Amino acid sequence: MVGNKPPMTLPAFVQRDVSLADLNTFGLPARAALLAAIETPAQLAALIDWPEWRSWPRFVLGGGSNLILSGDFPGLMLQVRIPGRELIGESADAWLVRAGAGENWHDLVRWTLAHGWPGLENLALIPGTVGATPIQNIGAYGLEIAERVQGVEAVDLTSGAMITFDRAACRFGYRDSVFKHEAAGRYLVTTVTFRLPKRWQPLTGYDDVAQELEARQIAHPTAHDIADVVIAIRSRKLPDPAQIGNAGSFFKNPRVDATAFARLTAHHPDLPHYPQLDGTVKLAAGWLIERCGWKGRNLGPVGVYEQQALVLVNRGGARGVDVLRLAQAIQVSVQTVFGVTLEPEPVVL
Ligand code: EPU
Repeated sequence: MVGNKPPMTLPAFVQRDVSLADLNTFGLPARAALLAAIETPAQLAALIDWPEWRSWPRFVLGGGSNLILSGDFPGLMLQVRIPGRELIGESADAWLVRAGAGENWHDLVRWTLAHGWPGLENLALIPGTVGATPIQNIGAYGLEIAERVQGVEAVDLTSGAMITFDRAACRFGYRDSVFKHEAAGRYLVTTVTFRLPKRWQPLTGYDDVAQELEARQIAHPTAHDIADVVIAIRSRKLPDPAQIGNAGSFFKNPRVDATAFARLTAHHPDLPHYPQLDGTVKLAAGWLIERCGWKGRNLGPVGVYEQQALVLVNRGGARGVDVLRLAQAIQVSVQTVFGVTLEPEPVVL
């Protein structure tokens, strides 16, 4: 015991000095001073009543698939493991499915498809948990989860109150939501309710999806077909975190204004680009990084994935500083060669 301070009384489900190595998909070594696995809102209420609650820095952990641990965390990590998935209602045009924040995302996608409720298939195989999906507004192959979210239930960690955010209140943007801004760190998402369309249309506009469907000679895909195609594309292009540590796309696709785009495209006519409604142009960060010569290269124990330059991978024994060093070197290259600033996509803690 240090000085006269009494030993801290911890709720039984809180562990001390916990390794986070298996709790982040990049496989980075780090420890949390305290970790609480939250399976029920009642456990969270007990923690908020704990006299020392306010004196600890907190971090809410989902599947750890969008997280770079730069070092040990000297606070209380709240690992969300709230289970549950159910059809809570249906209308003439939609099924409403609610899932606990701790559910595995891909398992939920498969479960909805098995029940004949389409709408999440373009987002198959994205690593992570349900609770994280609205926070970064996960997106892939022509769909963002924003389009399917009916509402998000969360606990306000400052008061213990339960709050419901409807879709508008989530303020979704590209890999962005209110939970990354004024609500950052304040709420713990407990459930997400999805609205799955009865008048379903396949989303096949994304190049990779269209090509794969053509290769399979599928003219009228079902939701299962789309899921299969997306799984095949992802398995080819993106490393499986269970095999090679990674956090998905390491940078957001940058947006530039029309003037900057005109200057860039004059020098690089083959630059992939996606015009946005607001007049800006989104660029493919993976292409910029590849053009700078980084694809397949390593810096210490961290590398740039051979099949997709937007993904950084752990070649074995990487630490947070190694990841940040490579990320910074890439940012400097892209800035120097193209004058474009790359912003990291995962949360850096
Ligand atoms: N490209 C290259 N070289 C590369 C990678 C990509 O030239 O090494 C080019 C491709 O040829 C293509 C363009 O860049 O013209 C876009 O590539 P891709 O379709 O692979 O998608 P992305 O923009 O690199 C985004 C998301 C992914 C998502 C895919 C598919 C972001 C930050 N990333 O990647 O999301 O799976 O589209 O929709 O928006 C994630 O967020 O973790 C993630 C994996």
